Amino acid sequence: MKKIAVCGKGGTGKSFLVFCLAKVFLEEGKKVLVIDTDESNYGLYRLFGFNEPPLELIDFLGGKVAFKEKMKKKIIKGEKESKISLLEQENYFLENIPKEFFKKRENLYLLTIGKIKKPLEGCACPMGVLSREFLEKLILKENEVVVVDTEAGIEHFGRGIEKAIDTVIAVAEPYLEALEVAEKIVFLASSMGKKVYLVINKVPLEYEERIKKILAEKKLEPIGIIHFYPEVYCASLEGNLLLESKVFEEVKEIIKSLL
Ligand SMILES: Nc1ncnc2c1ncn2[C@@H]1O[C@H](COP(=O)(O)OP(=O)(O)O)[C@@H](O)[C@H]1O
Ligand SMILES: [Mg+2]
Repeated sequence: MKKIAVCGKGGTGKSFLVFCLAKVFLEEGKKVLVIDTDESNYGLYRLFGFNEPPLELIDFLGGKVAFKEKMKKKIIKGEKESKISLLEQENYFLENIPKEFFKKRENLYLLTIGKIKKPLEGCACPMGVLSREFLEKLILKENEVVVVDTEAGIEHFGRGIEKAIDTVIAVAEPYLEALEVAEKIVFLASSMGKKVYLVINKVPLEYEERIKKILAEKKLEPIGIIHFYPEVYCASLEGNLLLESKVFEEVKEIIKSLL
């Protein structure tokens, strides 16, 4: 488990799970690179207790305008988006990235690919292609692990972001649409030959048995269940770093069963 992506429907808790996974890996002594590939949501840095986001990697690696032009030419030539190369270098190491392009605290590194900023700025394809290629070319050292926060839904599978990923965690809330998106993610990731695990998040304690019964009827076998914790919700509402919560114990158990 070296490159992990957390996927799921919007609002199911992807970013929060990314934060929990990073925290647990850091406690295990790993160097953790969190890569934010979500083009729409800005707040991951806040969840990690930083005051501002890092500069966007897309600007370090070539810039959105140049990438758009490059992509247009390649698409006209008939290249498939999932195969287009935008990056000059063969490989990237964390050390090669200038420090303004990540936020760092001890062994935690937060990187962001790029965000949508203006109306009519065009599609986010260059960010998708860049996420895929950067993840493919990013070489990890022994003790390093990458945790990728993805855009809601499944479009990133079309763009092939999961190509370089070895483990996909599909996170769902206990309601039908979220479960359906997670099922689709399980299907897509396993068709790509990835290890994929389902996690059900925000389960109210009083409904746990009922939810488990419904999951069993649907032949869904989550690797873990995370309960709904008011302190998680409140920390995010207030924009505070969550330091202590039993939720981390539940995530630790999930990671243990992944290994
Ligand atoms: N286990 C949980 N208990 C309570 N609130 C949660 C839990 N997991 C996530 N949340 C909250 O749900 C909201 C959406 O979570 P977020 O991680 O932003 O979702 P996503 O990244 O999938 O859109 C946030 O306010 C977050 O704090
Ligand atoms: Mg998110």
